[in-house]
Amino acid sequence: MIDVLDGPAAIAIADELGPLYAASFGPEEDTDRFTTETLPKHAARADFRLVAVRQDGPLVGFAYGYTGERGQWWPERVVEAVGAELAAEWVGGHFEVVELAVHPEAQRQGLGTALMTELMRDLPHRRALLGTDVDDGPAPRLYRRLGWQLLYPDLGWGSALYGLDKGVPETS
Ligand SMILES: CC(C)(COP(=O)(O)OP(=O)(O)OC[C@H]1O[C@@H](n2cnc3c(N)ncnc32)[C@H](O)[C@@H]1OP(=O)(O)O)[C@@H](O)C(=O)NCCC(=O)NCCS
Repeated sequence: MIDVLDGPAAIAIADELGPLYAASFGPEEDTDRFTTETLPKHAARADFRLVAVRQDGPLVGFAYGYTGERGQWWPERVVEAVGAELAAEWVGGHFEVVELAVHPEAQRQGLGTALMTELMRDLPHRRALLGTDVDDGPAPRLYRRLGWQLLYPDLGWGSALYGLDKGVPETS
């Protein structure tokens, strides 16, 4: 079962998220910085939501995002990279998917797909953005299967920009 957590609830499980982050992204990643700086900063942002999945107790996967705005670090880097036209259409007020991670021993069971589906469920945002590997690995394949489109192949730091556009809701 997937839990949906708000900012305070996500910070409350930071001691579980840290080891999972390290196991999924690799020991070279700065896990302390993730749990003590990045996560608390992001957890305070508008519409923050973290989804987490457990198997027989231990946490084995999580994903999170929030509303991204101009002036924040990542959107500004994206604007610089992609140019004015694409930026005007996509950047600012979008839902920003920041992390998706599944423990290596729990991968290829559909958990990553289930986490992304739950993270995006019933969001009011028309558009969503994320950065992922430029190589065609499991993550970009997963996003494309869920309807995300490649917007920009290389932002300049080994990351490709993907977007999801839900379109304008129909009015009757
Ligand atoms: C990307 C990531 C989150 C995917 O998680 P996952 O739980 O393995 O995702 P899924 O199981 O939904 O799908 C992955 C693959 O398993 C396959 N799969 C799903 N259920 C399966 C099952 N029951 N049996 C066999 N294969 C299955 C999917 O078809 C998919 O195949 P593909 O890679 O060939 O397209 C995971 O690989 C990860 O944490 N990677 C490291 C961190 C990372 O890169 N995060 C993304 C940052 S942008």
